Amino acid sequence: MEVPGKVGWPVVGDKSVEFYRDPMHFLSKHIAHTKSPIFKARFLNKPTVFVCSNQGVRDALNCTGEHLDFGYESFMKGMFGHNVLFSKDEEAEAFRQFLSKLFTNHCLEEYETVISRIVTRHISTLKITREPLCLYLFFKNLFSDVCLSLFLGLDSTENSEQANSILSLTVDHWRGIVSVPLDLRLVHAPSTYSKALQAKDHLLEMISIQKKRAKAGFPMKVKETSNLDGSIVDNHLLLFTSALLPKVLASICTCLYVEIGKSDTSYYQGRARSDDAWLEDLLKEAMRLCPPLLGGRRLASKNCLVAGYNVPKDYALVYITHFAQRDPKVFEDPDQFKPERWAQRPELKDRLYVYGFGSRCCLGERLSALMLKTTLSSLLNKFVVQVCADQDFSHKFIPVLRPRNHLMVHLRAI
Ligand code: HEM
Repeated sequence: MEVPGKVGWPVVGDKSVEFYRDPMHFLSKHIAHTKSPIFKARFLNKPTVFVCSNQGVRDALNCTGEHLDFGYESFMKGMFGHNVLFSKDEEAEAFRQFLSKLFTNHCLEEYETVISRIVTRHISTLKITREPLCLYLFFKNLFSDVCLSLFLGLDSTENSEQANSILSLTVDHWRGIVSVPLDLRLVHAPSTYSKALQAKDHLLEMISIQKKRAKAGFPMKVKETSNLDGSIVDNHLLLFTSALLPKVLASICTCLYVEIGKSDTSYYQGRARSDDAWLEDLLKEAMRLCPPLLGGRRLASKNCLVAGYNVPKDYALVYITHFAQRDPKVFEDPDQFKPERWAQRPELKDRLYVYGFGSRCCLGERLSALMLKTTLSSLLNKFVVQVCADQDFSHKFIPVLRPRNHLMVHLRAI
């Protein structure tokens, strides 16, 4: 079948501005107009197939590597330098082999010590006061510290000056990453971009120094494991220590508390304190409803078939995790937070695409799960978190999902 919709003329027919202004409105409008969860439009000035059904996303992720390549190079490579995200075929395989050696059971056990230390320190700073706490910022700072300690061996209490200067560079670097699609829309933000490139160079210098100093932990393993060029290894460390990961992890924890921190749902917290499987189900359900990354992008290297639709060679494809995970054909009551669905139908786990799927799925899923569970268990065991009433619970979706007002909460001691 031919994908419904119109790709329009170059530049004048481009819908990127409309998409970035309000992605949910853009997607819902096109789904309604074409009466199809798979449609085409011009995006980033390229004919693009948007895939919003669960089966469509699954097919697109399964075709990756054979008919579809990752499509991030044009707007992210300048900010990160060459790494696995911009590779394909044998090179991608070689990068994945090297990286997977950093996430074995044995490695994760070692990382757990670092993660627990930083998490405990951050949770111990929490005090019960009349003033509400901004939960998103708390999580973002905690995960920034965890990532610095884990990936660079840099403890912010022992070396606060260096840690702060890296964190402030990651902010400038992040602004550049976010500004790139604006450049592709021909609305230039040159000073933000060039400042971000300078930040990238400084970060790479600091990463190289930290890597040379490392005697243990992740940066030491990187040195021991890799036979790749040193600068390529540094680019991967840049990817892991960028502002992206703390934002993604903070997004997940904050969205979870939106659901379990209200007066009629706070009993979920009590159960999660003693029931590990329940905590995992809560996390899955929060990530199903609110995937931190709206979706991903591909470029078709050959014609391919996605949910019965023909995606022509040289088209781009954008898959939308958010819609796929609320597909009523797969999830009953798709817009409701129902963590009990996971014990009833564990096979649905394969219908979640938060961490991607197939041959190019996320390599850091188990590490992320460890960071999330360590943090949440530690918080659950010390405090009941009560979400303040009368606040705006709507979300901002791009570049990383988060509650628009960062989520204000009160804490109550256990
Ligand atoms: C909750 C946290 C995380 C989420 C939601 C996440 C999500 C994803 C997704 C969706 C992809 C696939 C992108 C696509 O198909 O277009 C991906 C790929 C990847 N992730 Fe993660 N990720 C997370 C944490 C991590 C961590 C902690 C690491 C490592 C330190 C990591 C390393 C990678 C790598 C290397 C790839 C690229 C795989 C490839 O190119 O073949 N991720 N991640």
